[in-house]
Amino acid sequence: MKIGIYGGTFNPPHIGHRNSAERAVSVLNLDKLLIIPAKIPPHKRLAENSASPDDRFEMTKLAMKGVNKAQVSDIEYKRDGNSYTVDTVCQIRGMYPSAKLYLLMGTDMIMGFERWRDFHVIMKECTICAFARHNGESRDIEAKLKELETDYGCKTKIVPTDIVDISSSEERELLSQRKGREYLTDDVYSFIIARRLYDSKPDFYWLREKAYSMLKPKRIPHVRGCEKEAVCLAVRWGESVDNAREAAILHDCTKKENLDEQLRLCKKFGYMPDEDERKSPNLLHSKTGALTAKYIFGCCDAVVSAIMWHTTGRANMTLLEKIIYLADFMEPTRSFDGLAEVRKLAYENLDLAVERAFSLSLEDVENRGITPHKTTVEALRSIRETIGD
Ligand SMILES: [Fe+2]
Ligand SMILES: [Fe+2]
Repeated sequence: MKIGIYGGTFNPPHIGHRNSAERAVSVLNLDKLLIIPAKIPPHKRLAENSASPDDRFEMTKLAMKGVNKAQVSDIEYKRDGNSYTVDTVCQIRGMYPSAKLYLLMGTDMIMGFERWRDFHVIMKECTICAFARHNGESRDIEAKLKELETDYGCKTKIVPTDIVDISSSEERELLSQRKGREYLTDDVYSFIIARRLYDSKPDFYWLREKAYSMLKPKRIPHVRGCEKEAVCLAVRWGESVDNAREAAILHDCTKKENLDEQLRLCKKFGYMPDEDERKSPNLLHSKTGALTAKYIFGCCDAVVSAIMWHTTGRANMTLLEKIIYLADFMEPTRSFDGLAEVRKLAYENLDLAVERAFSLSLEDVENRGITPHKTTVEALRSIRETIGD
């Protein structure tokens, strides 16, 4: 039986890691590949703002999902204290006494291999395999492997891999700039964004793709219009354009769900709907949309609360809440009596515009014989106090 051992910090695991794992299985004809996220790697200190061991373990499982023969192992992750490769190798040898073991490592690791604790033991138990990404690198690695063979009689192998020009540290940097998703599997990227690991922020193309896939197609122009309007209002009134975009893109993400599904989402995210909300999917969608933004897309509190109050408004609204409320109300695809005035006011006096929007929406509700929602009545009273009416 041939078993590969592929350890690393996987901080985060990117497509280069996945590609290496696939190549190792095929080049070495492995029966099993154990992928082993390190808990505390002895040879390097983890960068600041690294993901926790739990998160790295989960991400590695997601990244390697579907890789033939691969299995993500928790043997280092579960071990207390520093984790050394020699301990892992001996543990695996204990589990598979007659297996051929292949220890896989990248260029930087192979170059410093003789500094590893008990490297003689590791060489005795395993064939040392190095991933080689391109020609220049291959020559250095070949020379190093030759040296190990000559000096210690160690068995070695090269595993050629495709060039994936990314390192985990470069990836972390990209993630904080709304970039880098092309180097991760979608599962890993979604996991990182939901928790905003590495100070990540979602790529807006990805966020739109996800949000639009949750909508009925006919609603997409409205959400696009809302984003456009929210950005203009954010620029005009000095609000964060990025927050306005995130809130606008996601504000209706649960709109198409029926009442049962809305209530299921409330339960899932631990939200207790009030009596009116329990009967109205329209009222609930702003709450479940906000909760989805928080737990699935990792949005900050300001964005979450702008989505939460986009349907009813509320007393003492923040600037972003007003912007999202108005953007939703007056985006370019909307058309009804009185809207022209709101559109004009929105760029002259934001509070007056919000007051007009509340008034129009309460009038509309009353005309349709529906009791106005108390939060909107309260919101109107509050904005009138602010204006000094
Ligand atoms: Fe909505
Ligand atoms: Fe909307």
